[in-house]
Parts: sequence; structure tokens; C-alpha cells
Amino acid sequence: MTRRKIDFDALVKTDRVHSSVYTDPEIFAAELDAIFHRGWVYVGHAGEIPNRGDYRLKRIGRYPIIMVRGDDGQIRLLLNRCRHRGATVCQTECGNAAIFRCAYHAWTYRNNGELAGVTYEDGYGGALRREELGLTPAPRVGEYRGFIFGSLSPAGITLADHLGKVTEQIDLFVDLSPAGEIEVQAGSSKSNYPGNWKLQIENTIDGYHPNFSHETFFETLRDRTGARVDVFNGNSIGETRDLGGGHVMLDYRRYNRQFLAQTHSTPLRVRGSATGTMPSSSAQDYRATIVERYGEERAAEILNAGGTHTLVFPNMALLGVQIRVVYPIAVDQTEVVLYPTTLKDAPAKLNLARLRAHEDFYGPAGFGQPDDGELFARVQQGVQADLDPWLILTRGLHRERRDADGTLVGQMTDEVPQRGIWAQWKKVMTQAEAASEQSGAAGRSRNGAARTTRVARSR
Ligand code: FES
Ligand SMILES: [Fe+2]
Repeated sequence: MTRRKIDFDALVKTDRVHSSVYTDPEIFAAELDAIFHRGWVYVGHAGEIPNRGDYRLKRIGRYPIIMVRGDDGQIRLLLNRCRHRGATVCQTECGNAAIFRCAYHAWTYRNNGELAGVTYEDGYGGALRREELGLTPAPRVGEYRGFIFGSLSPAGITLADHLGKVTEQIDLFVDLSPAGEIEVQAGSSKSNYPGNWKLQIENTIDGYHPNFSHETFFETLRDRTGARVDVFNGNSIGETRDLGGGHVMLDYRRYNRQFLAQTHSTPLRVRGSATGTMPSSSAQDYRATIVERYGEERAAEILNAGGTHTLVFPNMALLGVQIRVVYPIAVDQTEVVLYPTTLKDAPAKLNLARLRAHEDFYGPAGFGQPDDGELFARVQQGVQADLDPWLILTRGLHRERRDADGTLVGQMTDEVPQRGIWAQWKKVMTQAEAASEQSGAAGRSRNGAARTTRVARSR
């Protein structure tokens, strides 16, 4: 399908964004192509498929993917597309299989992708080259601390370059485990909303909205426990941070340090506590194991951060105890999947507390998640009325500052993260538009062997 040339540069300014980015189907198609079908995209976590033969159905943009651990132990991302006539070969969301069998004409594939069997094979006159007809692998697969990323483009920047400074935040999320490993075996919850996918990624790192969108939650918390949450106030010392590359975060660390100094306790994360609340004896034991593994200084850093609250551009976020994955379905349809995680080798009580805290706010009957979904629907409806199409991105623009490590910092309620996301979006979209103009077509080779890279730890 040919589409009109889009001037992405004109749609996003430092201080505003044009609302057609949420409503225009051609912009949506261009995003899928440029961001999801060319760049690095989070697919799943190794902890979802711990055993040989384990698989989970995933998607990269419009591409159905089987994330599978083969009998050889290697994790692969295989296109869920029969090499005969294109049917998906696996329909079950997760399971364990040695073989995937296409229901249409019953070709079978091994869990490493190889074509295992062709029904009535003599009908091909001996010309069928089985070795060339395995399930097509995603051209590039990369892994960082169990997080599996895929790219449908055989060329492009490395995963390490794509992740940049965000690996430090992934480390903080994972290093809460005394074994340095998270487990992703506690199920997942899915929801859909009638709105654009970017509404969710912007909102995930929006420290301005909680006091208002989630007022009921905070009121209930205060009534039941007496706790008054002030981290999202306009004068909070909590921060927002743009790590570069579209990776952005709510940075609670400065706030937590003050909280710890005042209360001599572990930070209580209000939106799905990363370390939960547990009896103080267990907390002391846990703290001791973290110090033993990481040393005093790093342990203090890990415990003070209590995890992270970070978007890994474009489609994954780590917050509280969860991995959140955003799937664009249509310009006004999005699916969000939340995977609560547990910490390997942590006390059972701690892991239980993590899951309960997650459910309070994010579970299907939780206090927070439905609020946001409803607001995305309202935004999607509101932005149709585009006589004045510009949306404001200026909050905190006058006071953002560059930190010593090169990241951009603002106050907790500032729109530093939103500006960071949009800057990256604009960069990727304008580059892709220029490249497709140069080549005259968007044709990309999808042949060639898949390459898997492992990104070294950031520390
Ligand atoms: S489409 Fe899969 S066997 Fe024919
Ligand atoms: Fe929210």
C-alpha cells in the first residue's frame, strides 16, 4: 500500500504535539513499519519459558511470533506462519511442545523451527527442500538479563546501543533478587482500551496524573492505613528523568532517600510496591542477603531504588513488580499485558507481598489500572475534535536540567518523560521517512540467518 508522505517533523515540537499522531491511520501504519518492524522491540522474558520446549505466543507489531525454548535450550523468536500457505501453526497462548503442527495441511515443525514433516510429500516430486522451509526466525534476537528483544530488520543499531543507559534501570529491577534473577511465572493480566498505544506509554511515566486520576485509591489508602502519599505533589522532591533513546522514568530515588531517613524503613512504593510490606524480621533477613551478594554500597542503592519505574522504548515498562507490554492493534485500539514478577531466592513472604501489592492497584479488580484505561478512551474521543489540534507538552520545560550523567531531569509532575518519548518518536519516524524516500520503496530483505546477541551487564 502506498501512502502519502508525512512530515513528522511538523507534527512534534518541543512544546507541543499535533493530535493527528493519535488518530491518523496512515501515521499508525508508518509507526508499525518504522518503530515495530525495523527497530528493537521487547518480546518476552526468558523466565516465561524456563524449560526446553516451553513456548509463548507473542507479537512484534503485526507479526505473530512464537517465543520458544528449543530442545537445545536456545530461545528463538519464530514467525508463526506456516511455510506452506501461511497459516499460523500455533494457536495456544502458552505450553510445551516438541512439534508445532499446522492445522491446515498438517506440516510439522520442530521447536527449533526446522520443518519436520510434510504430508504426502511425494506429491512434490522430490523437489521440496525441507532444510530451507523451517519457520522463519526473527532476523535479530537480543537478550539483556533475561529480557528478550527482537528486530525484524537484519540491519540496524545493536541492542546495546538501543538500550543505552536504561540497562542500569533494568539492573535495579532485577537486582532486588538475591540471585540476580526475576521469575515470570505468576501469570499475566490483559486489558484492551479504545485508544492509541502511545497514550499508555506516555501515561505509564506520567507523575502528574496519579493524584487526580487515582484520587479514590489514595483516599482509600489514607482511610484504611493513615498513609498520606505526597510523592506526586507539585512540590515533591521526586523526579522525572529522560535517559535518552525514548527511555524515560519516574525517579523515586531522591524521595525515597528522604523517606528512609525519616522513617528508618524500606521505601513503600505507593503504586504496586516493589518490595512490598512484610514483617520486619523477614525484611532484615532479606536485606542481609542483598548486602551479602552485592556489598554494602550497591545494596543500599538497590534497596533505596526499590526497583524502578521506567519505560523501555517503545513497548515495555518496568514498574512496581511488573513487566508491562503494550501492543498496538489499530490506531484506536491497544492491548496491554501485565506480568507480575517474583524475585528468585527472596523470602516467600516478600514475593507474596509483591503480588498482593500489585493486585491492589493493577489487578483486574485493582484500584488504578481501570482509571487509566477510561481516561485513554476519553482522550481518544476528545482528540477527534481537532479544530485546535495542538496538545501541550510544556510542563516543567523552564526548569528541566541536565544531570552529570547526561540525563535530563525534572520535577515529578513535569513532562520530561513525554518530551523524551516524542523526541525519540520524531527521530525514528523522520529517519524512516527519509530512508524510504531514498530507496523509493520500503522493501526489506528478511532472508538470512537469525543472529542472537547477549548484551553484557551494565555493571
Ligand atoms: S498452510 Fe500449513 S500445512 Fe498448509
Ligand atoms: Fe495511572
